[in-house]
Parts: sequence; C-alpha cells; structure tokens
Amino acid sequence: LNNGVGRTPPMGWNTWNTFGCNINETLIRQTADALVSNGMRDLGYQYVVVDDCWFDPNRDSAGNLQANLSRFPSGMKALGDYLHARGLKFGLYQVPLDRTCAQYFGSYPGATGSLNHEVQDARQFAAWGVDYLKYDWCSPTGTIDDQVRTFAKMRDALAATGRPILYSINPNSIHAKTGPQRNWGDVANIWRTTEDITNVWNSGQTNGYPMGIQNIVNVNAPLSGYAAPGQFNDPDMMVVGRGGMTDTEMRSHFALWAIMASPLIAGNDVRNMDNATATIMKNQHLIAINQDPLGLQATQVGNDGTRRILAKRLNNGDVAVALFNQGGSTVTISTTASAIGLSGNSFNLRDAWTNAVTSTTGTIAASVPSHGTVVFRVSGGTPNPTPSPSASTSPIRGVG
Ligand code: DGJ
Repeated sequence: LNNGVGRTPPMGWNTWNTFGCNINETLIRQTADALVSNGMRDLGYQYVVVDDCWFDPNRDSAGNLQANLSRFPSGMKALGDYLHARGLKFGLYQVPLDRTCAQYFGSYPGATGSLNHEVQDARQFAAWGVDYLKYDWCSPTGTIDDQVRTFAKMRDALAATGRPILYSINPNSIHAKTGPQRNWGDVANIWRTTEDITNVWNSGQTNGYPMGIQNIVNVNAPLSGYAAPGQFNDPDMMVVGRGGMTDTEMRSHFALWAIMASPLIAGNDVRNMDNATATIMKNQHLIAINQDPLGLQATQVGNDGTRRILAKRLNNGDVAVALFNQGGSTVTISTTASAIGLSGNSFNLRDAWTNAVTSTTGTIAASVPSHGTVVFRVSGGTPNPTPSPSASTSPIRGVG
C-alpha cells in the first residue's frame, strides 16, 4: 500500500500473545518504558499495539467508539501521548464486523465494528494519535470479495484522515484462510497469511488454529512474490520468549521471520526477558536483514523436506541466506553463491549468530542442528540481474 508508511516491515510489540484480554494502561505504559530502557526502541521496535479488549462494547450517544474506562481510565488520547513522548508509535485493534474475536467467543456481544462507520472511526483513531490499525475480520462468513471491499473501505477512510497510519489486516480469523490466497498489497501494508501462532514448533496444522513455527513457515515462505516496500506478508506476532520451544527453535523462529521480511512484532512480556530472549530479539544482523530498504522477502532456493534454503537480496548487493534444518537430526546444508544469485570468485560469509566471518570461492555450507537456522550475509559478489532471488515467485527451485 502506497501510503508512505511500512516501507520496511513494522517492528514493535503487541499485547495479545501474552496478555489476551488482560490489558490496561499500566501494562502498556510499563511496556513502553521497558522498550526504551532495554534498548529495543532504538533497535527499531517502535509500534506498541493494543490488541483486542480495549473497548467499551457500546458506542457513545454520538456513535463514537469508547475505551473501556476501567482498563484505560485516562483514555486513548492520553495513552497515545504517553507513547509519542517516548519516541514510540501507537497501534490499536478494531474489527469491521459487529464483534471482535474475543466478543465472538466471549460472553458479551458488541456492536463496536467499523463497517459503515469507517470515516467516523478513522477520524477518531487519528484524533487519538493512532499510527497503526490492526483490522481483524473475526467472522466465519464473507467471501474474499466481501473482504476486499470491506478492508478497502477502511483503507480509504484512514487515507482521508491525512494522518499516516500503518494498515494491518487479518483476513483469516475464524474464517477460511484467505490471507495467502491473494496479494493484499493494494489494500494493506501487512496482511496475516495464517491462523494464530502459538509457542510450539509444530502443531500439526497446515493452516488451522493454532499454528506452530514450522507450520507457519510452510505457508508463508512461498509467498515472497507479494512482498515489497509498503506491503508485507504477516506470519503473525512472534512468540520468542514465550517458552514451549528450545533456544535453537526460538533462534530459528526469529531468523526466519527476519529473512521472510515479516513484521517483527514481539509477543512476549518485554518487561521481563531472560538473556537468551533478549539476545535473540536484539540481533542487529538479523534486524538489518529484515529492515533492508529493498523490502524483499527471501525466496526459496531449495527445500528437500529437511534442508530448506531461503535467500534475500539486500540493497548493497549482499545476499542473506538462511540454511534451515527441518529434520530431526543434525545435517549439513549446502548451497552456492551462484544459486543465491551472486557471481564472482571470492565471497565473505558473516554468520548472523556468531558474527564470525569466513571466506569461500562459492560453496555456502554449514552443519545445522535439528530445527536450527544458520544465517549468512554473503558479500563480495556481483548480484546477477537474472535470476535474482527477488525476481522469482516460483515456489521451489531444487536444492543448490
Ligand atoms: C485473532 C487474531 O488473529 C489475533 O492476533 C488477535 O488479534 C485476536 N483475534 C484478538 O481477538
């Protein structure tokens, strides 16, 4: 979406994965303070997104949306001001239809949805200082055409406010999985491609609730042709730091989100992070790969079911390559500079986890533990005009 924002994948934090409906303004303020003091804001984590359950389920007498005043007694404008004063940005959740997902499954019906209130609600968001809207379908019904029309109405209403507001949509909630069926880049800055993430490696789902890391990668990795500055596939907020997986799996999760040009939205409690979690979330090599201004998602260079190879061309001519072991035991994964779109005779490989630099005449290989991902930034070559990793939307081209 060409609205001036989201030129690289958004980074930040969202309430849902850890806190669900158990949110209030104290939590948001403490989180904002933590993002500043722990250095995450300065690494790019700037959007603080308040997900479902911030509402009063009824509009006021003038038809305006209202915050739940027991959770947000100071109101949403004050919350936005608090974030902006700390150099952060304000994200808020809303639905088009009559209920949020929590209301749908919970006990209280609501009439909070923005359908046919788009202009009024977008103005309200802008007046509160909202910089990011997450707009969540939350209905079992509706065709993909209904979704396009409805999501586009809010896109236009946001544009009409004149405030740059990053537009995040979820066409998938309790619904047929329409996220991966279409390039939504004409409608939104980011769009969910899968059902909700959970903190397991493999949930056994292909695209149903809940999704593990491996399941999400299977859906999202082939969609690289949709990504560009202003428009990115969204494989959901991260679960790094939420337990349920080994450190190796957590590192893979972050590395794969980074190279897939996914939004890097933390879903853990950033007020209390252990060292392993902080080290993963603050990996500057991976953040730089994710935030590269070319805005490309890694394409799949190989996948034999065990060894998966993803390559992402970068703005300075380097190529980032991920060697991902989907299997149950340590294997060597090997590709070549030529297979990832580089020509030349001598290359440097910088390991994004160890920072070690090695040189090669062309072979790019590593021993990778089960569920691990080694990422190299490959420099010193000349990017081939074609085929480049960025040009291909074909799912899979053979192992290099
Ligand atoms: C479904 C979405 O996929 C989640 O990320 C979250 O926003 C919930 N809805 C909130 O109800």
